Amino acid sequence: MHNKVYEIRNNALKACQDARTVQELNDARVKFLGKKGELTLILRSTGQLPPEERPLFGKLVNEVRDELELSWAQREQDLFDAEEKERLLAEGLDITLPGRTITRGTVHPITQIIDETKTIFMNMGYEIVEGPEIEWDYYNFEALNIPADHPARDMQDTFFITEKLLLRSQTSPVQIHAMEKKQPPIRILAPGKVYRADSDITHSPMFHQIEGLVVDRGITFADLKGTLQLFAERMFGPQTKIRLRPSYFPFTEPSAEVDVSCIICKGEGCRVCKDTGWLEILGSGMVHPNVLRQVGYDPKEVTGFAFGVGVERMAMLKYGIHDIRLLFENDVRFLQQFTS
Ligand code: DAH
Repeated sequence: MHNKVYEIRNNALKACQDARTVQELNDARVKFLGKKGELTLILRSTGQLPPEERPLFGKLVNEVRDELELSWAQREQDLFDAEEKERLLAEGLDITLPGRTITRGTVHPITQIIDETKTIFMNMGYEIVEGPEIEWDYYNFEALNIPADHPARDMQDTFFITEKLLLRSQTSPVQIHAMEKKQPPIRILAPGKVYRADSDITHSPMFHQIEGLVVDRGITFADLKGTLQLFAERMFGPQTKIRLRPSYFPFTEPSAEVDVSCIICKGEGCRVCKDTGWLEILGSGMVHPNVLRQVGYDPKEVTGFAFGVGVERMAMLKYGIHDIRLLFENDVRFLQQFTS
């Protein structure tokens, strides 16, 4: 029986070496080492031997099994490597071909303008805050000194949701939220989306504004002017001048519309500034005492200034974009031009 074991061993080693594929190798394994394989069967016949020979025989069979397992593992690895090599060669992979480029997104021009404005005002110590886009009539109008029948409501074509709830038509309501939350000094910048029922090449039903508000003891119109002058220089270049024109907003008194010297022609006069040399960019003014009173501040103690700037308008001026809709169509060819 010992000889039989050696014979199985030799046949098995030969079959192992002769196997040309992983599949053939597996078949041979079943034949010799499987549940009904030759080596397994002979181990089962140990019982036919005299008891004293059994341990030695068992040991022999196990040694042979270990040896065969090792050969199989080795052969399996060799065959696997060979098959892999063949497969790679057959694939004809040309590693000298240039790779596929990944197209990268860029920051949207609207986001760029908002980010730049935020940075300018953060450097002046402003806190960036946000408010809800669905707003109560109270915050969007009433608290801003625009009562229900006030004609100033006509200035903004508002989307109402219910009688008391609307899509905010301006970022000014964030002023009220900010003042309700905290006592002066207040220095906030509030960028965000606003909505108006208006649509043509310079108006979109959704657009962006950035609201600024400063309230403290002794804030004057000179603070407003100085702040906006610095903003204009940092946003449009150091040579930029500003001009304030008297205007009307219900929540400021006095109110001013602010122009910057034309960033295209530098004030010479061109098509963009309609030969005036100036571009209107924002509304501003000293916070109306009624607004301060509304949030429980004492207008004799504190004063403030506020401003609201249109982001799309700044982007259109800065980049020479003539149609606001280009900003929202998401045509990659258009947007790629603003890669910074
Ligand atoms: N909310 C105004 C608008 O949408 C813009 C504005 C004007 C904001 C004057 C202000 C301000 O804070 O003081 O037309």
